[in-house]
Amino acid sequence: PPPVPQRIEEKRRAALLGGGQARIDAQHKRGKLTARERILLLLDPDSFDEYDMFVEHRCSDFGMDSSKNKYPGDSVVTGRGRINGRLAYVFSQDFTVFGGSLSGAHAQKICKIMDQAAMVGAPVIGLNDSGGARIQEGVESLAGYADIFLRNVLCSGVVPQISLIMGPCAGGAVYSPALTDFTFMVKDTSYLFITGPDVVKSVTNEDVTQEQLGGAKTHTAVSGVAHRAFENDIDALLNLREFFNYLPLSNRDPAPVCECHDPSDRLAPELDTVVPSESTKAYDMLDIIHSIVDEREFFEIMPSYARNIVVGFARMNGRTVGVVGNQPKVASGCLDINSSVKGARFVRFCDAFNIPLITFVDVPGFLPGTAQEYGGIIRHGAKLLFAFAEATVPKITVITRKAYGGAYDVMSSKHLRGDANYAWPTAEVAVMGAKGAVQIIFRGKEANAEEEYVDKFANPFPAAMRGFVDDIIQPSTTRRRICHDLDVLASKSQSSPWKKHANIPL
Ligand code: COA
Repeated sequence: PPPVPQRIEEKRRAALLGGGQARIDAQHKRGKLTARERILLLLDPDSFDEYDMFVEHRCSDFGMDSSKNKYPGDSVVTGRGRINGRLAYVFSQDFTVFGGSLSGAHAQKICKIMDQAAMVGAPVIGLNDSGGARIQEGVESLAGYADIFLRNVLCSGVVPQISLIMGPCAGGAVYSPALTDFTFMVKDTSYLFITGPDVVKSVTNEDVTQEQLGGAKTHTAVSGVAHRAFENDIDALLNLREFFNYLPLSNRDPAPVCECHDPSDRLAPELDTVVPSESTKAYDMLDIIHSIVDEREFFEIMPSYARNIVVGFARMNGRTVGVVGNQPKVASGCLDINSSVKGARFVRFCDAFNIPLITFVDVPGFLPGTAQEYGGIIRHGAKLLFAFAEATVPKITVITRKAYGGAYDVMSSKHLRGDANYAWPTAEVAVMGAKGAVQIIFRGKEANAEEEYVDKFANPFPAAMRGFVDDIIQPSTTRRRICHDLDVLASKSQSSPWKKHANIPL
């Protein structure tokens, strides 16, 4: 055999080429980048330290032990690097090697970086592009998935975990992204499903394409499995870099504080007229969020799913905050099953990683009806209530208009350990709207009842008089108030009774 230094070089060169030029060309032809090209785009230049370039699969069945079936590094590229100077661990599945399928060795490589990430305290980013379990390896491959799933669970709440789906991800493989904090997809080239169209056809007799079954549109708008979709590989990776900047490295690390050119005491006069005088008229909660946060920058999570609630990341005076807002533009901003689950998951992520929560409330209540009741709105709505109540991060709430019924309690109210709760002059905190209320208490018989009800409840005073809101503030001053509060609350410390873990209604 050739001398060792030469063999090292040859193996390195082979690893860099993955499944070979023809398969790289095929990958490019589909509009996809290779595993290595993706890593280079995601990480800062020259920051990638690769691990396990010499690892090979150990399967000897089906002719797999022949040298032409061995690829140094096997079907995944792993290592660590920096994103805007901050540490991240990355794995990138290489579709050019056995379709990126997961061998025992492939799984071990991923587990190694996950273990390191958890110990060091740095996020794990997975770039998924894989035909699933390495069919030739059988249970070895299934064991590999389980090893990853276990680590996904153990890392949950310790370091942020992000999945970017950039190709196929099917079968058991989907459960790793599903266990991570955020799943992003690339439009047209990625899909996620438990079983593909052929199996669906044979079991349920449905005709469905891959794209309809598990493409980006399906998962961002219908199933809620994915949190965002991007145009192509480059767009997705650049957005991932931007997203990363909002996140702390771990639950022990404060989120990064960015230099802020937007004055923390900036007034936003447009907010004084944003809420329409007719309480049934819609407006866009995103306008309010944009006016209040730093530089109007808001990284929305799940923008196409359960649009009656808005969630996402922004900064206030340079600090990351999680924003939750009812969206009056969609279904009057009511809470329903999907919006409750969407909100709850987001609130729990923020709480796990010490990101303060800012909640904008304009909620007419929970959505009535058999579909919601049969679907379990009671236990799903309870998730959002549970998440807000459990959260010990700084919690600031602004009631812009309606805060009706149980939904008032749920939306980060004072009663759930809200730190700073404000009402705008347009706020109405009541059990329900005037029309419905008068129907029930007077059966429509009292002529002036509606007026009396409006006088009594359709304003912020009943809540303010009881201290359930801390102040009634001019909308234009909201940013200033929140920035001051966040300064003070930076040293907030609050705990809950000891427990093994809570039992959030699932
Ligand atoms: N195990 C081993 N090899 C696999 C594989 C797997 N799970 N999935 C794909 N490959 C190999 C293919 O044999 C092919 O090898 P080749 O280049 O030497 O011919 C290569 O990866 C590319 O796959 P190909 O089928 O040509 O790509 P495609 O884009 O047409 O289809 C998939 C991609 C993922 C839809 C298809 O490969 C597939 O259905 N794979 C099996 C998925 C599965 O059922 N996995 C197990 C359940 S977890």
